Amino acid sequence: MSDVHVFPTFDALSRSAAQHIAAHIQTVLREADTYALALAGGSTPERTYELLASGFPRIAWERVHIFWGDERFVPSSSARSNERMARRTLLSKIDVPFTNVHPIPTDAGSPSAAADRYDNHLRDVFADRDHTFDLTILGIGDDGHTASLFPGTRPDPTDADGTGIPDGRLVRAVEAPATYEVRDRITCTYRALNASTEVVFLASGEEKQQAVARARAGDPDVPAAHISPRHRLTWFLDPDAAGKEA
Ligand code: 6PG
Repeated sequence: MSDVHVFPTFDALSRSAAQHIAAHIQTVLREADTYALALAGGSTPERTYELLASGFPRIAWERVHIFWGDERFVPSSSARSNERMARRTLLSKIDVPFTNVHPIPTDAGSPSAAADRYDNHLRDVFADRDHTFDLTILGIGDDGHTASLFPGTRPDPTDADGTGIPDGRLVRAVEAPATYEVRDRITCTYRALNASTEVVFLASGEEKQQAVARARAGDPDVPAAHISPRHRLTWFLDPDAAGKEA
């Protein structure tokens, strides 16, 4: 089951998503020492990141660890880098310790080396807990992809019993379809994303409408339909992305 919120404007959508994320951080940090937030790439979350950085409500960034759900295999200085986008819109504006930032290492030599390194890193970081990210932000492509899980990929048979970090890969190197500008990608797997406590999907624009509808209907050919976090999945949509629900 998922919650769906539809907002009249993209700004209202972004504002509400930022408030939802900030509230979750505050709630979790009442009980836990640290919080793990996984960021999406693409352009939809940029405004949400700016609002998260704006300081209201106040977030204890010194206790928040930042990860990425996927990355393009480009240098972190590239205009195509998801890390660069997050540094520009969020990380450069907040007081988050350098050691709390966990980018996907695209300087690793090859996409598979980068994926291996990030996979090991996530296993180390999450070794002593029963879930991966506290909250994962995801976008959706008009073909239904999410993170860099493209159509044609299905989850591996699950070996997660809900009580610990799943076995099997948490991160993989993948190739995007030929229509994508950057084909070499590193992505968290369904296992890693579904071992998050919460997922927030952000989608805006008519070109997303069909993919959103198919994902929400559970169409197995749509990667986003396979996202099912441990506790809560929330969609933040504008009327164009929501279609007839608006
Ligand atoms: C990426 C992503 C990807 C993105 C969607 C939506 O690296 O491209 O993380 O899954 O979220 O493609 O992108 P837009 O927000 O730009 O539409």
